[in-house]
Amino acid sequence: MEQIIQTAYFATAFLFIVGLKRMSSPMTARSGVIWAGIAMMLATLATFFWPGLSNYALMILAVVIGGSVAWILGKKVSMKDMPQMIAIYNGMGGGAAAAIACLELMGHKLGNVGLASLAVAGGLIGSIAFTGSIIAFAKLQGLMRERPFTFPNQQYINLIVLVSSVVLGVLLLATGWGFLVPIFFVAALAFGIMMTLPIGGGDMPVVISLYNALTGLAVAFEGFAMGNSAMIVAGTVVGAAGTMLTLLMAKAMNRSLANVLFGAFGQETTAAEGEIKGSLKPIEIDDAAIMMAYADKVIIVPGYGMAVAQAQHKVRELAEALEKRGITVKYAIHPVAGRMPGHMNVLIAEANVPYEKLFDIEEVNPEFSNTDVSLVIGANDVVNPAAKTNPQSPIYGMPILDVDSSKNVLVIKRGKGKGFAGIENELFFKDNTRMLYGDAQDVVGKLVQSLKRL
Ligand code: TAP
Repeated sequence: MEQIIQTAYFATAFLFIVGLKRMSSPMTARSGVIWAGIAMMLATLATFFWPGLSNYALMILAVVIGGSVAWILGKKVSMKDMPQMIAIYNGMGGGAAAAIACLELMGHKLGNVGLASLAVAGGLIGSIAFTGSIIAFAKLQGLMRERPFTFPNQQYINLIVLVSSVVLGVLLLATGWGFLVPIFFVAALAFGIMMTLPIGGGDMPVVISLYNALTGLAVAFEGFAMGNSAMIVAGTVVGAAGTMLTLLMAKAMNRSLANVLFGAFGQETTAAEGEIKGSLKPIEIDDAAIMMAYADKVIIVPGYGMAVAQAQHKVRELAEALEKRGITVKYAIHPVAGRMPGHMNVLIAEANVPYEKLFDIEEVNPEFSNTDVSLVIGANDVVNPAAKTNPQSPIYGMPILDVDSSKNVLVIKRGKGKGFAGIENELFFKDNTRMLYGDAQDVVGKLVQSLKRL
């Protein structure tokens, strides 16, 4: 029987990797998720056949409750709320790894100190990922204030809590004293909370991805401790993918991971922004439609505001109306536009825009200078020239879309609201920029109507 289970675990590992590979392209991502889901089901089923298992009724009850809640919430969740859903599910993984470690350590089931230290490491990391993800969820869901929660000497206090949990873990390994187990876990769980409190809501996607990587690591450690190959492979794959995603996101925001974790970004910014010359120049819908109707090439630049307004379907209609007139339309996708990795790709794919029309920053930047109209829809920081010109700016060095070099720029936003970084954007004040004020879905809808009347 054990050999059959191990074979099933091997197949699971293989399917996880196939799934992950397919997730690397938006064209195949949906099927990648399905393959990974099948792998998870296979691993869960195989586990039921381990010799010596008891409590089947309890396990089935847990699977039914967990599976149904996840199914219902997964169906109901809106794209906007996806980051916090990922946070909470990911936190559950960390919590499960920590719970396994707790049981193994309490029951003194781990014969040698090597395995016990893996259980301690997995327990520590899993606990941090668990409570950290819960705080991330609470901030993004609006259950807690999103702003960084700071107090004097916070970083030293956090360091003391972290060092205490590590010391407790080492003491536990050295002495085997059972009473240390709960104290160790309380310290680790507390550190997860304290580490996440000073991080602002906007930085949460990076933090969630980091906790995702930690969960993977914790699961892999527990896999080694229990001799479970499926957990080792799945945990390692999640750990590696999460680490890469975390670093890529930090790089795309031109921030170090340390700055995200310890910088309390999102607090009131005091950076000198310098005087911005010029004025904001509004334009009527019909005039904007005429400007686009007589263009040869239009580049659409979506941002967080498009996601808030759920304007993606109207945007596709607009692109189609322009294409009917023989105008070339492209979409410029910034890697951190919106609030989660691939946010714009997912929304635009949802509206059935062909993937070939989406261009990433390196491909599209050289094209702006020969573009007649760039239509910025609810994007702000990712098109802010201060990232190139103002060393004092908090986004200085972040790669941006060079929208300012196009012949004309139309910007759709509701008013004078700032972007995530909380700074002014000189693009909006430029001579060749015109502002279309209003909710993105409403304004794009009106542009489509106006174009059809021309
Ligand atoms: P932002 O800089 O956040 O700007 C969004 C703009 O959309 C705002 O200026 C807002 O102005 C406008 N807006 C909001 N709701 C709107 C609506 N219903 N209709 C029309 N406009 C609306 O967006 P971005 O350019 O996409 O940049 C993303 C930022 O988030 C970057 O700073 C990035 O570093 C950060 N970030 C991204 C991620 C990931 S992974 N994507 C993770 C963490 C942080 P009004 O209020 O005037 O309408």
